[in-house]
Amino acid sequence: MGKLSIISMLCVLILAMLGGFCNAHKVTKLHFYVQDIISGPNQTVWEVARAKITSNSPTSFGLVKVVDDLITATSDANSEALGRLQGQITFADLEESGPVMNFNVVFKSGAFSGSVITLSGRNDASDKYREYAIVGGTGVFRMARGHAITSTYSVDSAKGRFVFEYTLYVVHGKSSTLFDM
Ligand SMILES: *[C@@H]1O[C@H](CO)[C@@H](O)[C@H](O)[C@H]1NC(C)=O
Repeated sequence: MGKLSIISMLCVLILAMLGGFCNAHKVTKLHFYVQDIISGPNQTVWEVARAKITSNSPTSFGLVKVVDDLITATSDANSEALGRLQGQITFADLEESGPVMNFNVVFKSGAFSGSVITLSGRNDASDKYREYAIVGGTGVFRMARGHAITSTYSVDSAKGRFVFEYTLYVVHGKSSTLFDM
């Protein structure tokens, strides 16, 4: 093999490695709490639709709720506000309780302010830990993929308050913010 072809092979190798570094993906782990209020003056979850079958269905089939929950840094509702969990819950299983969850995690403060992560999945009530897919994102989280694990942290039935704990493992492009306008 001639000197030139070895040099050109090396060049190709170096370029490929550089390309690999530039496209490198980053895994960001996020941990936060969601304040869910189902009754009272500051209610954050509202029913928007139901079907004829809903009230007779053991799984509330056909019910659709819209959610705008506060996201906090700790389980305390008065801890640092990070953003909102916004979207809808659709009761779409005739036989078991397992609504379809479609949410945007909307960051409103900190390093991720203005960025969004979009979650979609099944909330199987019989599972202590539920898993949702991270199906996309914007801003820092452009091209996001990954998964979210959620569990019920606390329930206060008298006040209609639930606290959910979320851990997200987000795979996203390292250089995505370079293209912000
Ligand atoms: C509702 O929210 C307001 C404003 O944040 C607060 O002052 C009030 O205490 C809340 N009410 C309840 C019942 O949590």
